[in-house]
Amino acid sequence: MTHEIAVIPGDGIGQEVTPAAVDVLEALDVDFAFVEGEAGDAVKAETGEALPQETREIAADADATLFGAAGETAADVILPLRQVVDSFANVRPAISYPGLDAVQPDTDLVFIRENTEGVYKGIESEITDGVTTCTRVITEDASEKIADFGFDYARQNDYDDVTIAHKANVMRETDGLFLDTAEAVGADRGADYDTALMDALAMHLVMHPEDYGVVICPNLAGDMLSDLAAGLVGGLGLLPSANVGEDNALFEPVHGSAPDIAGEGVANPAAMILSAAMLLDHLGYEDEGDRVRTAVEATLEDGPKTPDLGGSASTEAVTEAVVDRL
Ligand code: NAI
Ligand code: MG
Repeated sequence: MTHEIAVIPGDGIGQEVTPAAVDVLEALDVDFAFVEGEAGDAVKAETGEALPQETREIAADADATLFGAAGETAADVILPLRQVVDSFANVRPAISYPGLDAVQPDTDLVFIRENTEGVYKGIESEITDGVTTCTRVITEDASEKIADFGFDYARQNDYDDVTIAHKANVMRETDGLFLDTAEAVGADRGADYDTALMDALAMHLVMHPEDYGVVICPNLAGDMLSDLAAGLVGGLGLLPSANVGEDNALFEPVHGSAPDIAGEGVANPAAMILSAAMLLDHLGYEDEGDRVRTAVEATLEDGPKTPDLGGSASTEAVTEAVVDRL
C-alpha cells in the first residue's frame, strides 16, 4: 500500500531539514509517494499568497503532511494548514536525550494540547478606545476529545503519569468544564490521573519534570508549558510535534525558519526527523518509528552533532549518520 505524503518545506531551514526527513523515510521499507507543495514567505513574494490553494489541496488529499517551517508568514501558513488536516490535538513530546547538555536530564514529557479553541479561537474585539476583550471558548465536545486522545496516548505509549492542567479555580465556567469533562473521561476508564493548576504546574515542571508524563492541556496552556519544557531538554533543534485529526495529520518541528543560520547547511535535522518518526507511528509503522528514534538518539549521543549541540557537523552529515544507523 502506497502512502501519499505531502511535503511542504517552506522557508529558511525548512528547506534544509525537510529533505533530511524525506531521506530518512526513503531509507525504510515503506512505500511512500511524496508530493511537494510550496508555502511561506518565498511563494508569497512570487504569487501574493503564503498558502496557495494547490498546497492546501495537496495536504487535504494526502495521508499525512510533513511541514518544515515558514518565516514571517508562519501564522498565515500553519494555522490554516492545521485546519486543512482538521487537527484537534497537538502532540508535543519534550525528551532529554543522553549525551546532551539538558537543563533537566530526566525529562520525558508529552504535552497533549487542545488545538482548536480556548483563547486561540480568535474572538477578540476593541470595545472602545483602550478597552479590548477576548472570548475564551471551551466546549464539552473538544474537551472530551482531547482528554480521550490524551488517555489513549498515555496507555499506548506506556506513560504512568497523566496530569490534567487547568485553572478552574479562576476560570470557573470554561476551565471548570474542561476539568470536569477530562476528569470524567479518566474516571470512565478507571485511569489514574492527577489534576494541576497550570501556574503551579509550570514551577513543578521546571524543578521536577521526572514526576510527570502526559500533560493534557487547554490550548494556550499547552502552547506555553510545552515551550517551557523545550527549554528543559536542550533547545528547539530537538522538538518534534504532531497535529492530529480524525483522518489526517500534519507533522512539523516546533522551531521556525531560523533565518540566522539558514543557507549555511548546519541546521539540526533532529526535530524534523523525529517529526517524521511521529508520522510513521501515526500511519501504524510503530516499529519503523522506533527504529528512527533509536537512530536519532544514537546520533545525538555519539555524533556527528550540529553547532547548536556543540558540534561542527552539517545537516547532511547528521542525516547520513542517522540513515547509516538505520
Ligand atoms: P526559530 O525557531 O526560527 O529560531 C530560534 C533560534 O533557534 C535561532 O537562533 C535558530 O538558529 C535556532 N534554531 C531553531 N531551529 C534550529 C535547528 N533546527 N537547528 C539549529 N538551530 C535552530 O524562531 P524565531 O527566530 O523566533 O523565528 C524565525 C522565523 O521563523 C520567524 O519569521 C517566525 O515567524 C518563524 N517561525 C515559524 C514557525 C513555523 O513555521 N511553525 C514557528 C516559529 C517561528
Ligand atoms: Mg508556541
